[in-house]
Amino acid sequence: MDIFAGKTVIVTGAASGIGRELSEELAGRGADVILADINSEPLEETTSSLLDAGFSARAAVLDVTDFEAVRKLVEDTEAQHGRLDYIFNNAGVTIFGQAQDHTYEDWRKEIDTNLYGVVHGVAAAYPVMVRQGFGHIVNTSSFSGMFPSVLQAGYVTSKAGVLGLTEALRVEGKLHGVKVSTALPGFTRTGMYDSAKLIGLNRDKVIKIVPKGASPQKVAHGILRGVERNKAMIMVPPLQQAIVWLLQRISPGVVRWACGSFTKLMLKIAKSDS
Ligand code: NAI
Repeated sequence: MDIFAGKTVIVTGAASGIGRELSEELAGRGADVILADINSEPLEETTSSLLDAGFSARAAVLDVTDFEAVRKLVEDTEAQHGRLDYIFNNAGVTIFGQAQDHTYEDWRKEIDTNLYGVVHGVAAAYPVMVRQGFGHIVNTSSFSGMFPSVLQAGYVTSKAGVLGLTEALRVEGKLHGVKVSTALPGFTRTGMYDSAKLIGLNRDKVIKIVPKGASPQKVAHGILRGVERNKAMIMVPPLQQAIVWLLQRISPGVVRWACGSFTKLMLKIAKSDS
């Protein structure tokens, strides 16, 4: 019996990229999936394709920065299904640009979506799971949560916060039978870089420089394999991410030097003319 079969699962950021692939694989493996996203059109499209394939899926238009809305979704899910087995706090956005050019709103956007979006999912779902005595929370950080990714200071702030939050919660959750994991994807070929806000940078040139990375299907599959094994830190692809993690720990000076050099190169190549 598949461990996800018959389980009630919420996935945020489910309309695109990794969240969409997580939802598709989970539904295909027999889970009842609640797909949540701020973007209603692709959300409905993804959910319809799952329903058409005979899977159990429901769409919920949700802004993860709105705690009351997140709490309501969790409450409604518990009321309808009698339980909540998994929540994947996956929704995220990114902004590229030098820190001095970020407006206060830019910082807020990334931290509100990427970090508070996860805090909201945790604050709504964790008490339910503690009461149940079971459940698994999977928070999406990034390789950018482990090292100083270039020209993404707000993103790094938010993703490092997610990693810290998840590590702390895992220790507490164990006392209550609740599992907690961090997903740490490397570069993934999703629409994130097309929709990213760029400050003072040329999109085509940035897209050319940023490594293409793994397919979202592969990354979602890797995350679910890590969830099955209840891994604390789910690194996908594992080897590449483990190298980043180790390098940052063994030799942070080398990482800073490499990131500094890449920042200069990126500014030289991708700085917009205007
Ligand atoms: P994506 O752009 O394909 O999907 C992100 C989804 O989140 C979109 O459907 C978007 O509508 C939704 N979203 C954005 N703001 C939202 C909000 N306020 N409320 C609800 N939904 C919202 O991006 P991707 O790549 O699939 O990203 C998924 C997660 O993986 C993000 O947390 C991202 O930071 C993380 N990640 C992505 C990497 C990559 O290279 N693509 C690498 C490492 C981590």
